[in-house]
Amino acid sequence: MEKVSIGLLGFGTVGTGVVRLITKDRERLEERTGCKIHLEKVLVRNKNRARKVLIDNRKLTTNVYEILDNPEINVIIELIGGVDQAYRYILRALRNKKNVITANKDLMASYGEELLLEARANQCDLYYEASVAGGIPILRTLTDSLGADRIQKMIGIVNGTTNYILSKMSGEGLSYEKALSSAQRLGFAEADPSSDVEGLDAARKMVILSHLAFSIPVKLDDVKIKGITDVTREDIAFAQKLGYTIKLVGISEVNNGDIDVRVGPTLLPNGHQLASVENENNAIYVYSSVLGETMYYGAGAGEGPTSVSVISDLLSVIHNMKLGMTGNHIFLPKKELHARKDNL
Ligand code: NDP
Ligand code: HSE
Repeated sequence: MEKVSIGLLGFGTVGTGVVRLITKDRERLEERTGCKIHLEKVLVRNKNRARKVLIDNRKLTTNVYEILDNPEINVIIELIGGVDQAYRYILRALRNKKNVITANKDLMASYGEELLLEARANQCDLYYEASVAGGIPILRTLTDSLGADRIQKMIGIVNGTTNYILSKMSGEGLSYEKALSSAQRLGFAEADPSSDVEGLDAARKMVILSHLAFSIPVKLDDVKIKGITDVTREDIAFAQKLGYTIKLVGISEVNNGDIDVRVGPTLLPNGHQLASVENENNAIYVYSSVLGETMYYGAGAGEGPTSVSVISDLLSVIHNMKLGMTGNHIFLPKKELHARKDNL
């Protein structure tokens, strides 16, 4: 049986979920892939911290080069978050010919194109399904199934923390502060939750979705962003009285050949499908030319759902390794991008 050796960077909410899933479901995953799945090393900041899942302490390391430069390891799963270190680590991993899986939307929204080209140059995989909408397989859907059609518009609830906060403020009358700290406790929020509540996290995800849907790079700076920090319980109650629900919504559409992307609190009529998306769930409505309307719904954050997306990427990497090929969600190089833009 072939073997895949994993180096895991980060052992927080999602890292814990990944270790839990590999440990609990190893037999099924190995049977499915025909490949032994071995967790070689895990990068942490503090080896002595209590962990939520049992792990052989000898696997833990604080030295990233024990992982990135380890010839035994052929897959790196990056779950430390942030941009600078994650960028350097992923670049080094790719240059060392390791396949990479990441859940890092901060990084992919800004440096995705560059890293994907680096992966391609090194004949490695770079998968990032978990970076958008937690457990919903939306990147695969856009690149694989909907690649057959011409996408015109996407409307998404793509941040679990803010959707959870707005749901709790509305349904249970929780204060904004209490709802936010509950979202943090449950592992939905970013290490710095201001990126959630100020709309930046949703904007990053809309950038990634837009790039994949329209094959045109969108800069984060070009996205109009407003978060939910000004939304009060009174606003929510008043909207309800008028038959509306307030949601943080991202919209991306093609207007006269240009992509318009915006994120902000939006009044949705109560009968609208997106209005009934509660708690940390996410949903992405897509309108494409031939197929028309489709919607993708599910858990958008948290340990379990996000780790399912990470493991789905691992299955793709193993599949590709067996066939001796690579298969990223490729952002097209610029020349092709401009050609596509002319055809929109
Ligand atoms: P956490 O903050 O829970 O975990 C991050 C882990 O990485 C921590 O264990 C932290 O160590 C470790 N870490 C951070 N920097 C370093 C470093 N320089 N060296 C060694 N270890 C480091 O984050 P999450 O698990 O929630 O998120 C991980 C990634 O997944 C992020 O990119 C996030 O945006 C993304 N994501 C998260 C989702 C979620 O629901 N939580 C959903 C989808 C994507 P320490 O414990 O010592 O702080
Ligand atoms: N903080 C993010 C959210 C995690 O709440 O949606 C999932 O990407």
